[in-house]
Amino acid sequence: MADTIIELKGADLTLGNAAASVHVLKGIDLTVSAAESVGILGPSGSGKSTLLMVLAGLERLDSGEIVIKETPLHRMSEDQVAAFRGRNIGIVFQSFHLIANMTALENVAVPLELANISDPFEVARRELEAVGLGERLSHYPGQLSGGEQQRVAIARALAPSPALLIADEPTGNLDTDTGRQIADLLFAKQAERGMTLLLVTHDPSLAARCSRQIRVRSGRIESDSATPRRAEAAIA
Ligand SMILES: Nc1ncnc2c1ncn2[C@@H]1O[C@H](COP(=O)(O)OP(=O)(O)OP(=O)(O)O)[C@@H](O)[C@H]1O
Ligand SMILES: [Mg+2]
Repeated sequence: MADTIIELKGADLTLGNAAASVHVLKGIDLTVSAAESVGILGPSGSGKSTLLMVLAGLERLDSGEIVIKETPLHRMSEDQVAAFRGRNIGIVFQSFHLIANMTALENVAVPLELANISDPFEVARRELEAVGLGERLSHYPGQLSGGEQQRVAIARALAPSPALLIADEPTGNLDTDTGRQIADLLFAKQAERGMTLLLVTHDPSLAARCSRQIRVRSGRIESDSATPRRAEAAIA
């Protein structure tokens, strides 16, 4: 299908060493269309973050296929995957993952520079203004509030204009009001730019704001609101 952005087939992954090995992803199949927003729920340890890491090309599958924007990541070298990620995938983490000794502007501009995107500092300034941080360009992460740090991380993720935005519990370290503002910002940017959003959260009301909800349990997709269960389909 032309508007398919993610195609995961039989995604299987075991992590850890022999003494502590965990079969984390157990043959996951998942197809996501462009501009969809997908809320991913599931118990702690069910494999949600690992699934996102696979989709971001930060974790390699043991077996199975991962195709993003018609690009088969499972057939590419780590360097090729990293170059693809830099231009096509934005990632936001619960704990912000900013570089402490770089200013807000540098945190956004340096990855752009590394991805050979032109005018990195000008693009970074514009992105930080767009998330309301035009007055904080020279601040270091330690001089910013949690919500402001997450805004920097969002600006960094959005700056290369990725087709896919991946967020792992982006509001998990924030108070309720700040968390809502960050969620509003993510959904606004997603709508404005027509991006695909994959959002892991423990908050069902946040997942409900997505157009589709997936529940992961023990390394498998337990339910997917885009696919009616067989019994329901039979009734319909
Ligand atoms: N490097 C690793 N080595 C061994 N086991 C690992 C490794 N990384 C993750 N795991 C295990 O894989 C399972 C899934 O981890 P994952 O972080 O994907 O869960 P999660 O669904 O994101 O949980 P949470 O909601 O707590 O963030 C866990 O049982 C975890 O202990
Ligand atoms: Mg997790």
